Amino acid sequence: MTMKSNYAIWSERHRPNTLDECVLEALSPSQEAFVRALQKGSRLPNLLFYGSPGTGKTTVARILCASKRYCVHQFNGSLIGKSDVAEELQKYALSGAMLFSEQRVMLIDEIDGITEQGQMALRALMEDPRVTTAWVLTCNLRKKLIEPLRSRLIEIDFNCPTLEHRQRHFKGILRRCGQVLAAEGINDIPDDQLRDMIELDYPDLRKIITSLQMKFGYRHAA
Ligand SMILES: Nc1ncnc2c1ncn2[C@@H]1O[C@H](COP(=O)(O)OP(=O)(O)O)[C@@H](O)[C@H]1O
Ligand SMILES: [Mg+2]
Repeated sequence: MTMKSNYAIWSERHRPNTLDECVLEALSPSQEAFVRALQKGSRLPNLLFYGSPGTGKTTVARILCASKRYCVHQFNGSLIGKSDVAEELQKYALSGAMLFSEQRVMLIDEIDGITEQGQMALRALMEDPRVTTAWVLTCNLRKKLIEPLRSRLIEIDFNCPTLEHRQRHFKGILRRCGQVLAAEGINDIPDDQLRDMIELDYPDLRKIITSLQMKFGYRHAA
């Protein structure tokens, strides 16, 4: 694991840089295979990652975009939601010719923070033949997105639909918590204790990792 020691907050310090470090069990097996294949490919399609907070949407989106093959522009929908989205995005989507080997990617987090009007503008931009950009979007609430926008995106669900699915996901989170603690030099926390802590904030892995830091981080600081 790459140590980003300049981050004091564990959930940031241990944000995965690779898909193998990610808990991907919330995805269906076919969606997981699809995401892994995307990482090996040379182009990205238009994607929407949706699901509850702290489940890895931004992390996976960044990993997929972190390739020299892409020229990535990053936005936060909750911030641009208040300004003139179309103008702002158009500026980047249409700006300058790309090197032939690069694909322009617009990574917009929290797209559900954009107004319906803004989403309509985004949809129009997606259909503009001059725009060859790939759009990678994340949101918590899929139902806040207008249907014409959703129908232009490949949707990846970060929520677990069944109890069996959640159990598999829970195990993945337990594994990840063990890795985070081990990276902090902590190897003596019994699984039962970890399970109880995970249950409190499941499925929000950001919160779970923060509560690990609250409980065990004093050893790190000492
Ligand atoms: N699936 C995951 N695998 C590994 N770590 C995760 C995962 N989901 C969340 N985390 C942890 O929580 C933090 C926030 O995750 P993030 O991807 O930003 O969540 P969101 O789904 O809200 O976009 C990450 O930096 C990482 O430490
Ligand atoms: Mg996010």
